[in-house]
Amino acid sequence: MKHYLSIDDLKQPHSAIEQALQLKTNPLQNSGLGKGKTLILLFFNNSLRTRLSTAKAAQNLGLDVLSLNVGADSWQLEFTDGTIMDQGKAEHIREAVPVLCQYGDLIGLRSFGELQSLEEDLREPVLEAFKALSDKPLINLESAFAHPLQALADAMTLQETFGSTKPKITLSWAPHPRPLPQAVPTSFLRMMKTLGADIQVCHPPGYELNAALTEGIEVRSDQAACLAESDVVYAKSWCSTEQYGQHLPIEESWTISLEKLKEAYFMHCLPVRRNVVVQDAVLDSSKSLVIEQANNRTYSAQWVLQELLKSKE
Ligand code: CP
Repeated sequence: MKHYLSIDDLKQPHSAIEQALQLKTNPLQNSGLGKGKTLILLFFNNSLRTRLSTAKAAQNLGLDVLSLNVGADSWQLEFTDGTIMDQGKAEHIREAVPVLCQYGDLIGLRSFGELQSLEEDLREPVLEAFKALSDKPLINLESAFAHPLQALADAMTLQETFGSTKPKITLSWAPHPRPLPQAVPTSFLRMMKTLGADIQVCHPPGYELNAALTEGIEVRSDQAACLAESDVVYAKSWCSTEQYGQHLPIEESWTISLEKLKEAYFMHCLPVRRNVVVQDAVLDSSKSLVIEQANNRTYSAQWVLQELLKSKE
């Protein structure tokens, strides 16, 4: 594996899940692998889990970690070639990336989409700029349309919870006060399709995801019926594709409740807005898997770091 930018970089996803779960049984089993090497974590956006779980994973491998909030701790970066840099951005990516590559052996990068233009966000401009200029392996810590570390952790959580049985999974849109990116639902669906999972999607009209992504998957708008027949419900808010970045009005309540879930388990990548996305009673019940999903972020990251370190040897 050269980079980990999307779940397409997982050549054998079933094996990756098994190996990541095995790491969890003894996290320090390869504690010398990263000795003398440095992981740089660059954040263009906020994070709790990704920042700390990836740092923890790196520590488990003996890697040193340097973390930077781009723009807040460092200079703001210019990405456009040929720009006369007489405005706010003090450093161009053409210098910044080669400099970072001198300091780090691996580079993790979080850069959400701007939600202004679907075409621009689909282009993944930040990720692509780094890819073009970096001679070090890159790890996607969530970009405009991908959150592959989360998707691997989610697959691990499903494997731990359901073993070899094939649960009926519903990916349900959920409310949120702001329009949100499509990275998490996109990577989760890609992962589930790759694994051949029994999955359906439900969302209100207007919130269709990319048609190629949902091809072959049943897409419904009757949330209560979908949830009632599910073994596990993955809730996430996302913005409209057709009216990209927009918040469309919804009349009925799409908040996940125990009444709607019936016997189903509940998953969410976190952070989650209580009593907007999901009711307290769900998160506080034994049916919630969110804390274990967050725990598995360490081992999904550790597996990815290990693979990248090994492929550099
Ligand atoms: N799920 C997730 O990526 O959490 P953070 O945004 O806190 O990193």
